[in-house]
Amino acid sequence: MGEVFYVTTPIYYVNDLPHIGTAYTTLAADVVARYQRLKGKEVFFLTGTDEHGQKVAQAAAERHLDPQKWVDEMVPHFIDTWKLLNISNDDFIRTTENRHTEVAQKFIEKLRENGDIYLGTYEGWYCVSEESFVLPSSLVGGKCPDCGRPVEWVKEDNYFFRLSRYSDALLAHIEENPDFIQPESRKNEVVSFIKNGLSDQSISRTSFTWGIPLTQEPQHVMYVWFDALLNYISAIDYGRNPERFERIWPADLHLVGKEILRFHAITWPAMLMAANLPLPRKIFAHGWLTVEGQKMSKSLGNVIKPAELVQEFGVDAYRYYFMREFSFGTDGDFSRKGMLNRYNSDLANDLGNLESRILAMVDKYRQGVVPKPSTPGAEENDLISKASEAATQIDHAMENLSFNGALRKIWDIVHALNRYVDVSAPWSIAKDPSRGTELDTILYTSLEGLRLIATYILSFMPETAEKMLEHLGLSEKKGELILPHAGEWGRLPSGLHTKKGDPLFPRIQREALESN
Ligand code: ME8
Repeated sequence: MGEVFYVTTPIYYVNDLPHIGTAYTTLAADVVARYQRLKGKEVFFLTGTDEHGQKVAQAAAERHLDPQKWVDEMVPHFIDTWKLLNISNDDFIRTTENRHTEVAQKFIEKLRENGDIYLGTYEGWYCVSEESFVLPSSLVGGKCPDCGRPVEWVKEDNYFFRLSRYSDALLAHIEENPDFIQPESRKNEVVSFIKNGLSDQSISRTSFTWGIPLTQEPQHVMYVWFDALLNYISAIDYGRNPERFERIWPADLHLVGKEILRFHAITWPAMLMAANLPLPRKIFAHGWLTVEGQKMSKSLGNVIKPAELVQEFGVDAYRYYFMREFSFGTDGDFSRKGMLNRYNSDLANDLGNLESRILAMVDKYRQGVVPKPSTPGAEENDLISKASEAATQIDHAMENLSFNGALRKIWDIVHALNRYVDVSAPWSIAKDPSRGTELDTILYTSLEGLRLIATYILSFMPETAEKMLEHLGLSEKKGELILPHAGEWGRLPSGLHTKKGDPLFPRIQREALESN
């Protein structure tokens, strides 16, 4: 068995329901996982929930619930949302599971043996909402610099991790591995943060109990971030099944939001170094989404649940919009109008109409059978060369997590095919029976163009792609879809029976949307 491509999302706090922000990272990870599978790789795609810490304990207390009961009630919302969005995760880790808590406890003991853990006193500010210790110098108006909420003063005996010991090793690793932290601007922020000097990190708490107790001092529970980061190795059996662990670790890609990059690019690699484990290959911090120009927040009442949008637009349109509209590394603004426009123009018009148009002509002129093409002419060659050029560019964009770049390239093929059909005007050639061979070539070329488009949108819009392949009569052959092979021109066999299904994306009238 060969290497495994291992991709992760953050594990989400269960104090809140999943929304379009948490779904954004999960969706991106899914697109990566599907694309790598399409390239023939064995993929392990992990997501899950972060269930300990003060924030979750408080959310439970507000409801007069035992924390375990509260988290058990919340987790299904995450699982169901990911199902709804067609997320193909291979595992779902919960930090309250034994398989996780045992590994976390063992991990701390290992670090202690290596001399990286010591008992000290933490005195300073803590932000419960961010679950993070805040330096007095970074307070903004006395409040948390990240979320603007009040911070609390903490003074307690804590165990500390000797993070400061790893500054030089971290800087050297970042320099030697240019892809380790992406995008570049975020990497520079991390580097200057380390250069400003790292302090040791408090990793246990004694003032509350909702966490993983340290085996030797059960009055200490693990600091929630220390516990949470370990999900990436507990889920793949670190310390339990070395063979499996070594096959999957290191992670190829940790996807995170920009606000938690430091935990992933500093604390986590240092923890791994302390345990003599290899570091992840890439950590990518994406931007933040706002809604109609505003930060999403419960108090503003503008938090959007994926299910609302899926109900209005369908799951694939949801997936398309979030991957197409924003540039992954930078912030973006969700707007309903923007989503409607993309739906109607890119999906209903450009792709949906193209498909119906071609399938209708194959039905009408060739009784729904894929014809045999003859030698391609200038128009065909032009389309074929555009499609082949796009193939390399799509792959490059996908490997660099430029999802919108990849979709733009795919839509270049969609536009080129639309133009090809317009220019070749099969409806007028069909009027002349002596031009049958020419018509065969045009129809074949159009169908083959659809097949290529279906192949490339598989990771973004799996249901639509499968429908398209089924319409081309290819559904049973899905297993053969491995890139770059499947992206080669001319692989559509002649003689297949096409099926004209319902329109892929029926146009949505603005009035219909507004009356909702
Ligand atoms: O931080 N725009 O969990 P969390 C884009 N448990 N992405 C967003 C977003 C937005 N508006 N809102 C949330 C935690 N996200 C920890 C992680 S990992 C070992 C522990 C996404 O529930 C983004 O990926 O607060 C962000 O990093 C994550 O959700 C935060 O989720």
